[in-house]
Amino acid sequence: MDATDLFLAGLQLYFLTMNWTVERSYCSASITEDSDCFLCPETHEFCAAHNPLFLAWPEWLRLATCFSAYAFCIGYLVILYAALTNGWAKLRAPILLFTGAKLYALIYYHTMEFTSETPPQGLHAYFGVEGPYLLAGVLVIRKVMAGSLNPLEARRSVVKYSKKRVPKAATQRALEAAIMAPNHFLSEPWRFYTCGPETKAKLCGLNADKRKAAEGVPEWLVVTLASEHKLTEKLGLEDHAATACAVQNFMLSLASEGIASKWMTGALGAPPEAVLKCVDAGRGEKLMGAIWYGYPSKALSETATAPRRKKGLEGVLTACA
Ligand SMILES: Cc1cc2nc3c(=O)[nH]c(=O)nc-3n(C[C@H](O)[C@H](O)[C@H](O)COP(=O)(O)O)c2cc1C
Repeated sequence: MDATDLFLAGLQLYFLTMNWTVERSYCSASITEDSDCFLCPETHEFCAAHNPLFLAWPEWLRLATCFSAYAFCIGYLVILYAALTNGWAKLRAPILLFTGAKLYALIYYHTMEFTSETPPQGLHAYFGVEGPYLLAGVLVIRKVMAGSLNPLEARRSVVKYSKKRVPKAATQRALEAAIMAPNHFLSEPWRFYTCGPETKAKLCGLNADKRKAAEGVPEWLVVTLASEHKLTEKLGLEDHAATACAVQNFMLSLASEGIASKWMTGALGAPPEAVLKCVDAGRGEKLMGAIWYGYPSKALSETATAPRRKKGLEGVLTACA
């Protein structure tokens, strides 16, 4: 959870409070000096100075406020949940739908306000109250877009990571994506080992020369192949291929959320048996690799330059008649 998540969560609590107090009261009766609902006297005082149309209680504004009071709270709750759990990617569709409706409502409301016979007085004060709704809309869209990179373009092997913690939910989503990889006879030949501090310390200690780079990696996933078949057999090779697909799914899921990764084998500078021992891998399992992952020190981008593929597509593609 970063500062923007925290800020957005606070804003949603504020919007929900307004939903439950002023907006619900306004839906059933106009707000007067004598209204005794929570925050109503303050609202009356503010509107008398800056927003006379609100106090005039036109029917369109009453109906719009009723809608906001009883329907928009669902959207605020969804955004609150996304901010608290970093669920922006998972909740992208309902959030975008709600934010679009909310922005449309805001534009409509402000147009009606400013073209009325009693437009808002004192723009600083008016937008001081209305601004949080506009700001929240912009920040929510930014959050959702940042959490929805095209992973095929954004994934690159990355070695430099920031210290920002990877949410457990993001790892969980990536693991769920990994096991959706194709696998012949549904052999599910992959095994995954997430690494806590003790295991990471063991892995970092495997090669003194590589320790510094390894210690800069926020998260490690060790992936192994558990196949009933030898790698010289067709089914063994297929299990190996399926596990490679699972690794790619894992990395693509992370990339779609702006989390970088790198598949490491040889450059770990340690024999596979030593890596397998660190995670106490099952008997007969073969190392597919250690996947380094974390937020990159330079944000992932769909336009970042990939290491050049020397053969290119022309060098590997045959168009058969
Ligand atoms: C099976 C496998 C093992 C890899 N092992 C290493 C490694 O030990 N060290 C390393 O620097 N990169 C390793 N890589 C990452 C490749 O170097 C990287 O994918 C390649 O440079 C292309 O860059 P890209 O991933 O940004 O497209 C490995 C990749 C694969 C598929």
